[in-house]
Amino acid sequence: MSSVYTLDPMKEKNITTRKSFKRELVPRPPQELPCDFLKNSSKLKVEIGAGTGDHALILAAKHPESTILAIERTQEKSRKMIEKAKDFSNLTALRADAINIISHYIKESSVDEYYLLYPNPFPLKARWPRLAFNEWLIKTLKPSGTITLATNISDYFYEAKDLYQRDWGLDIVSANQIEAKELTPRSAFEKKYFERKEALYQLILKRAL
Ligand SMILES: C[S@@+](CC[C@H](N)C(=O)[O-])C[C@H]1O[C@@H](n2cnc3c(N)ncnc32)[C@H](O)[C@@H]1O
Repeated sequence: MSSVYTLDPMKEKNITTRKSFKRELVPRPPQELPCDFLKNSSKLKVEIGAGTGDHALILAAKHPESTILAIERTQEKSRKMIEKAKDFSNLTALRADAINIISHYIKESSVDEYYLLYPNPFPLKARWPRLAFNEWLIKTLKPSGTITLATNISDYFYEAKDLYQRDWGLDIVSANQIEAKELTPRSAFEKKYFERKEALYQLILKRAL
């Protein structure tokens, strides 16, 4: 891993993200979620936008003591993910909107780790670090719980680093360009970008105590 240094692009753009989030206005998911798996879990990892589920499967295999929740909203990708997840009793894979599920089912201070691997960079206003939803997302982290965000868009990486620190009060655990020689791709998009030899960035953020 090597460090990446940046001027402060947020100062120049003067983007403000901090708005209050009204959880009660988020529609409830259309079907009740069977949530026993959440009650029984003391260690919870949640993947948002899990795609075809490869990384969620790696987490489930590596951490049998943890409960993994993988959420993907598109039909075709989630179908593949749900099929693969059948082999793992500690992995729950859902086709749903993550904002919807997390707003209504995830309790305060209950999540050890969130993963956001290669989130869509556009539209700009829908980038994860710009959403008022972060107010609730961060409350659901345990103290010292982490958010891992990976992207192939350097501008997204710098923006996320600055906004999550400045507007959302998270601490930076690491902010690096991923070294190609150290990488075994974890997800379909990571594999695609790796094979194209694109620069990949990863940010790990921690809820301050
Ligand atoms: C570029 S893909 C990356 C998929 C996967 N993480 C990977 O690395 O292969 C981004 C994914 O996030 C999903 N996504 C975006 N917003 C979402 C949301 N609010 N809830 C669930 N999935 C979402 C999209 O449907 C898309 O499949």
